[in-house]
Amino acid sequence: MRSRLAQGVGVAMRAVEPIRLRAARFVYEAWARSRLRGRVEAGVQFIGWITVEGTGNIHIGSGTRIGRRCFLETQGEGQIVIGRNCTINDHTVITAYDEVAMGDHVMMGEFASIRDAAHGMRLDAGPMRFQPHTAAPIHIGDDVWIGRGVCVLKGARIGSGAVIGANSVVTKDIPAKTIAVGTPARPVGERTP
Ligand SMILES: CC(C)(COP(=O)(O)OP(=O)(O)OC[C@H]1O[C@@H](n2cnc3c(N)ncnc32)[C@H](O)[C@@H]1OP(=O)(O)O)[C@@H](O)C(=O)NCCC(=O)NCCS
Repeated sequence: MRSRLAQGVGVAMRAVEPIRLRAARFVYEAWARSRLRGRVEAGVQFIGWITVEGTGNIHIGSGTRIGRRCFLETQGEGQIVIGRNCTINDHTVITAYDEVAMGDHVMMGEFASIRDAAHGMRLDAGPMRFQPHTAAPIHIGDDVWIGRGVCVLKGARIGSGAVIGANSVVTKDIPAKTIAVGTPARPVGERTP
């Protein structure tokens, strides 16, 4: 008797699941849009809650998917520009004091961290926590695949078509269409037809 009831509940829950998902995504999107001050094109998908910190100067192109628990921060004049049809996976952090810009069709694995600023580190200027940031723009081309856990640091540029291996730290420019891995990330090969 009990297992029949459990089965019935299971069937009912499966039936309403698509509606629950749609309703949840509607709420996630409404929340995200209320926090974003930049242009968010139609067809952007928010899969879960995101955190928007600072000015909200964030532009997102159509067809882009933003994963669960992503953290997007812009400070001062900083802006984040995400192109069309990108997938930004769960728990990604993007912080812009200057500019973080990426093209179309960029894929970013979970726990990626893209930060265009660093704390001041002068020994004679008090605690680093209170020193001004230094920032330099990060530019990522079209059709770039950034593996899970990758850090991209200030001033780095990643050319179109490049692949960055999981857990790599990108400190300098990575040429287009190359495969780069490690800390610091260095090209180890090129994509082939
Ligand atoms: C970069 C990557 C695509 C390369 O794949 P591949 O072309 O099959 O390369 P291989 O596995 O043959 O590795 C080539 C060399 O690079 C090294 N390497 C590969 N990935 C590495 C990484 N992330 N960090 C350090 N070294 C790495 C390998 O050890 C190998 O070194 P060797 O020639 O000295 O033996 C893959 O290793 C990777 O990191 N994928 C990311 C997966 C991911 O994060 N997915 C998230 C979903 S979006």
